[in-house]
Amino acid sequence: MTDIKNNGPGEEQLVIDKQYKLQERSKAIEIIKKAMALAREEIPKGKVATYIPELGKVDPHQLGIVINPLKGEKICMGDYDVRFTMQSVCKVIMLIVSLELCGRRAVFGKVGMEPSGEAFDSLVELDVSNSKPYNPLINSGGLALCGLLLPELSFQDILRFTRNICSDPEIELNEAVYESEMKTCSRNRSIAYLLQSKGILNKDVEDTLRFYTKMCSMTATADSLSNLGAILANDGVCGETGKRFMSSRTARIAKTLMLTCGMYDGSGTFAIKVGIPTKSGVGGGLLSVSDKRAGLGVFGPALDTQGNSIAGCKLLREISNDLRLNLFYDPEWNRETEEENELIKGIRESHVI
Ligand code: DON
Repeated sequence: MTDIKNNGPGEEQLVIDKQYKLQERSKAIEIIKKAMALAREEIPKGKVATYIPELGKVDPHQLGIVINPLKGEKICMGDYDVRFTMQSVCKVIMLIVSLELCGRRAVFGKVGMEPSGEAFDSLVELDVSNSKPYNPLINSGGLALCGLLLPELSFQDILRFTRNICSDPEIELNEAVYESEMKTCSRNRSIAYLLQSKGILNKDVEDTLRFYTKMCSMTATADSLSNLGAILANDGVCGETGKRFMSSRTARIAKTLMLTCGMYDGSGTFAIKVGIPTKSGVGGGLLSVSDKRAGLGVFGPALDTQGNSIAGCKLLREISNDLRLNLFYDPEWNRETEEENELIKGIRESHVI
């Protein structure tokens, strides 16, 4: 039985308080520093993406984070200002723009809202078991939305919007990464033709691929992603300028899909262990939203087998409970997890499982 007078270890370290305010900056910095050290240990277990040859040249040892609380000052650490390509993180922007310009009915006429449980570039479930992409955050879903936006919207329009919503005028197209992916995107080309054969994509396949790949090749930093995350956390409004970038309904849909589908076939595990709606990209970026609390941007280019930043995920896992960023904050979490590990070990040793 828990002693109610005795706070759990999570409660003692809590730095975003119940009013969602970042308290005790120095304590938060200590927690993040420790988490960074633990996360760095994961880097050798990961690999940079090589299926886009230009991404294979990126230094895998980089790691950076920005926490951008709605109330309080930003915390920036490590390689927080290094530029990388957004890759699938841009699918959140595609979704926002599609919802705002075309409406929910048009968007969910093209894509579903269910996790696929498959890899990000899978065609299997699209071909065999479904008439449209499972959700907008996998490659097939992103390509379907690009078809919805073309030709009314140009890449320059998206670039301008992205610079604004990320408060980062230096975001640009990384030509080398774009050219590199265009040469090796047979899988996305296959997905686009499959979408065309099913009547979901009714725009030119090559135009759609170029539009999609350019968006993936936009450069961001952990800092710029944290600015976008903060707007989502604040229901679509920039806290500093008061400017509304999207309806609160769009923000809510984006955050929900990030929680359920943002980490592909790792989404369920990530939701349990980290509990922060997040979208990953194979460039190593993570865009996270701790609702009403903070936007977060992470960069760590070494990836796990699902294509998510290996050190970035560990870093978020380490800070989510202690900083009270988890959607389902549990003051008992750390202690319970340790006890649970002991229990599982005990059961294993007794050969019951
Ligand atoms: O379409 C692709 O394969 C890449 N441009 C983006 C994939 C991606 O980022 C998956 N994320 N983890």
